Amino acid sequence: MSQPDVVDSVAALRARIRDWRRDGLRVAMVPTMGALHEGHLSLIRIACEKAERCVVSIFVNPTQFAPSEDLDKYPRQLTRDLDMLATVKADLAFTPTVGAMYPAGFATKISVGGPSAGLESDFRPTFFEGVATVVAKLFLQATPDYAVFGEKDYQQLCVVRQLCHDLDLPVEIIGAPTIRDAHGLAMSSRNAYLDEAELAVARQLNVILRKAAAALASGAHRDDATAEARRALTAAGFQKVDYVEARESLTLAPWRRDRAGRLLAAAWLGKTRLIDNVEVSTG
Ligand code: PAJ
Repeated sequence: MSQPDVVDSVAALRARIRDWRRDGLRVAMVPTMGALHEGHLSLIRIACEKAERCVVSIFVNPTQFAPSEDLDKYPRQLTRDLDMLATVKADLAFTPTVGAMYPAGFATKISVGGPSAGLESDFRPTFFEGVATVVAKLFLQATPDYAVFGEKDYQQLCVVRQLCHDLDLPVEIIGAPTIRDAHGLAMSSRNAYLDEAELAVARQLNVILRKAAAALASGAHRDDATAEARRALTAAGFQKVDYVEARESLTLAPWRRDRAGRLLAAAWLGKTRLIDNVEVSTG
């Protein structure tokens, strides 16, 4: 299959989308930061099924990285990404520059409340502002009918839904299941930072979360199950556990047994921070 066309300006993106719309074609968007892997490709396949045309944005968004975080070393590999996009049916790659997205004098931030409280925000206080601002820009630039986001970043998915709901953005958000390796490790561009020994520990994250979710489902108290999971993560070799929390799936309020639940965690292996989440089945 051939590589998708690439545009790097908002004007060129809009021209292409205008042509599609003139032909009555619907548009699905998959926002990414590149370093594509099978998790991203699964989102693109879903997007291609939903709409006649699919646009994938590749933009390492500086406003969602804190000064201490890995913006500089975040993997950038556009040629390889375009080769991967050629294996799915993406029609267009949008690869704006930082200068195009945030020209000198840029002064707007979008702050979403509700599901952004706690969890990631306790440790990355400006993260969701950066995500919401760039996602709102991408949606206004591309005006997609659909956009696909992974459950891998579960809180981000909830924040994006809230953003679109509150601002009446006319885009339907589709949540897609987490793609994992054969050992259950959620695929992530940051897994590239892990050495062999760290990979073995990283693979315990999902095992421990699933065990805690099973304990919750069979009646364990919320705080006992999460405390046990924290202990297990430390015993497995994670140096620091940022959080393990059971929340309601829709609102991310603290989980109550009569509601659909999600168990979410973030933990550090060396200099790499991993996140994952699993469903808490309530039968
Ligand atoms: P990025 O980390 O590149 O992820 C892009 C999309 O791929 C997100 O919706 C994410 O949840 C999804 N994804 C990543 N790993 C996945 C996996 N293993 N299975 C399924 N989906 C997976 O998330 C971002 O970029 C940025 O915050 C962004 C939304 C693009 C805004 O800058």
